[in-house]
Amino acid sequence: MSSSGSAFNWKLLKRVMVFVMPFKLFFILTIIITLALAALAPVMPWLTQIALDDYIAKDEMQGLLRITLIMSAVLLTQGILQYIYTTLTNRLGQEVIYSMRKTLFERIVRFSSSYFDKTPVGITITRLVSDMETIADIFSDGIILIISDLLQVVVIIVIMFYIDFKLACISLVTLPVLMIATRVFQKNIRITFNDVRTQVARLNEFIQEHLTAMRIVQIFNREEQEMHKFEKINASHRDANIRSIWFYSLFFPVVEILSATSIGLIVWYGGGSAIKGLASFGILVAFIQYINQLFRPIRQLADKFNTLQMGMVSSERIFKLYDETHSEVNEGKLVAENIKGKIEFRNVWFAYKENGWILRDLSFVIPAGQSVAIVGHTGAGKTTIINLINRLYEIQKGSILIDDVDIREYDLQSLRKVIGIVLQDVFLFSDSIYQNVALYDSSITESEVQLILEKTGAWEFISQLPEGLDYNPGERGGLLSTGQRQLISFARVLAHKPQLIILDEATSSVDSELEHLLVKATEMVTQGRTSLIIAHRLSTIKNASRIMVMERGKIIEEGNHQTLLALKGVYSHLYNIQFRVMEAQDSGS
Ligand SMILES: Nc1ncnc2c1ncn2[C@@H]1O[C@H](COP(=O)(O)OP(=O)(O)OP(=O)(O)O)[C@@H](O)[C@H]1O
Ligand SMILES: [Mg+2]
Repeated sequence: MSSSGSAFNWKLLKRVMVFVMPFKLFFILTIIITLALAALAPVMPWLTQIALDDYIAKDEMQGLLRITLIMSAVLLTQGILQYIYTTLTNRLGQEVIYSMRKTLFERIVRFSSSYFDKTPVGITITRLVSDMETIADIFSDGIILIISDLLQVVVIIVIMFYIDFKLACISLVTLPVLMIATRVFQKNIRITFNDVRTQVARLNEFIQEHLTAMRIVQIFNREEQEMHKFEKINASHRDANIRSIWFYSLFFPVVEILSATSIGLIVWYGGGSAIKGLASFGILVAFIQYINQLFRPIRQLADKFNTLQMGMVSSERIFKLYDETHSEVNEGKLVAENIKGKIEFRNVWFAYKENGWILRDLSFVIPAGQSVAIVGHTGAGKTTIINLINRLYEIQKGSILIDDVDIREYDLQSLRKVIGIVLQDVFLFSDSIYQNVALYDSSITESEVQLILEKTGAWEFISQLPEGLDYNPGERGGLLSTGQRQLISFARVLAHKPQLIILDEATSSVDSELEHLLVKATEMVTQGRTSLIIAHRLSTIKNASRIMVMERGKIIEEGNHQTLLALKGVYSHLYNIQFRVMEAQDSGS
């Protein structure tokens, strides 16, 4: 990562601070408490010194009682402040990442398909989940504590010099060594931290992909090999963490030794002075406490700087994702409603990736209200047509028109609203069947949904389910069969009453009962609407009055079943290899 040079990247910090602004008061309050805590830190040693020198040494019970009470009050105040501080900083951190996550996710849902094509899901998850956590740490564990620690160090050093110049100098003899050790530690921990982050992302990426595809792994007996790959990634993750822990385990004892050395020096030199009557016993005890108070924040500082550093690296990654130029373009102003439904492709050229044309100069017109079927070899570019009408991808040349208006001139949301799509691979959310049909549109009631499901023939199996409409089909709808999912997606389209229908039939073959249901459902959704059916089933093409044959991104033949067969061209070839088999199967069963 490019920002790994410095812990403070003001530009990034400023962007993070934008999210802090709504909680300004919180932030200011924590700063005030931080200052108070830093100011209170040297009070206890000072009170100890007074207790020892002024009261214990002089046998003043009254004074001792008073100072003990004051000490208790100070301790109590410190405790309460500490409590408020911890609560506030953590709350602040959580509030900040709550709104950052929200903003980022709002953006991600508008990312164009090409982003999702090339970014592993695990990477996006890492950004949204664990990278965000480290930003929360900036607040709970980073920036404010750094201020507090720095302040405490300064205050204590000043007080030490104020009380006894010589003793202060002796206490600080080890400081240069400590500084060098801190620097070395900080530098190394930064490098290992970056490693750790990268490894976490890799682990997420791998696990995410393999959990989704576990069936494939099992069916193809790939467990062993995948385990092996996982082993490697898991080991790299472990090693990166161990490396970073190694530096900690080395650094902390070094600091302990240095602080013990300082205390030793004080006891030796100060003790000598005390015996000679040059310094008081109270000062000696106070200095030992000061040294402890001095080394603890210094030791923590290195660590806190890293927390800050980690937060910076994470926020850089997050903002980079945020700034991705992959968002969908939505500059159209025209609201697509009450459209008649004429669809036209005019000399459309399209490629998912550079110089790999998928559609080549594709042109066709579907008049409003007409139903057209498209057939073609696998990979011909049929599903691609859907992606383009929907503007999931932008075309490179030519134009796509609905009602003679270029689709880029329509507002994107309104455009998608008038197009109803049944995808080849039906995706259901892990939510009730009702929500899967209504898609969180509260104007669609449960009884409406049930009615539609009855019409599409899906109700028959849904009514058998224990929870009926409330049944949850699991992640991606995996607990239902492909045919059942298709029927539900027909209902989904009907419920939203679109003016255009695009249907990408599932490639998998279906039994005759489901076939019958699908034919009925197809008739129902296409009735009175312009519809484009990407046909994979024989019954569909036989029923179609107009069939377009697609090959390598072009329409090469057109007509109905009979006329196309008579051409003895690509269609009749396709029919012979693809649909004939189905026909044979059908008559056989
Ligand atoms: N997201 C994508 N990124 C890059 N290439 C893609 C993407 N989606 C599809 N392709 C490529 O575009 C070509 C056309 O794919 P498309 O899905 O349109 O085929 P299809 O005609 O629907 O095939 P099928 O009958 O198997 O569903 C294929 O060569 C495919 O590899
Ligand atoms: Mg397809």
